[in-house]
Amino acid sequence: MRRVVCPGSFDPVTNGHIDIIGRAARQYDEVIAAVLTNISKRGLFSPEDRVAMLREATEDYPNVRVQQFDGLLVDFCRENDIPGIIRSLRSVSDFDYELQIAQMNYQLAGVETLFMTANPQYSFLSSSLVKEVASYNGDVSTLVAPHVEQALRDRFAGD
Ligand code: PNS
Repeated sequence: MRRVVCPGSFDPVTNGHIDIIGRAARQYDEVIAAVLTNISKRGLFSPEDRVAMLREATEDYPNVRVQQFDGLLVDFCRENDIPGIIRSLRSVSDFDYELQIAQMNYQLAGVETLFMTANPQYSFLSSSLVKEVASYNGDVSTLVAPHVEQALRDRFAGD
């Protein structure tokens, strides 16, 4: 079975994430969308909420599983017998950071990282920007699934 992980903070999942996961699901037998912690980011949603939103957003993909993990991505890969990681590249600045992480993960455990270029439609899109726009009551309906839009509205209501 050809298995790959699409890891991320998914705080919250965006249409850009779903595009990558869906494309990965066409290339692999099984895709694990893994919610992990990025220590350089302060989270808005709890890991449980992120998982629930990601599950709902990927429910139409029969070969996508969503899991949460506290720890190193390479340990998650080892525990789940996953030989490869897919990461999206939106820009050259993404590449600088992603290359370093990919090489570290290879050095730590021999896990390969495969880069998928972002759909140009979503190359400007990030969870951070979505949160900023939503926090000012801006329209994010073309950027996230309706249930995510509602969760953002609920979270920022009364702020
Ligand atoms: O969506 P993000 O924030 O770009 O995802 C980054 C993430 C969560 C995949 C990354 O920070 C990660 O792998 N975290 C788990 C801990 C880890 O393995 N860090 C990398 C060490 S080189």
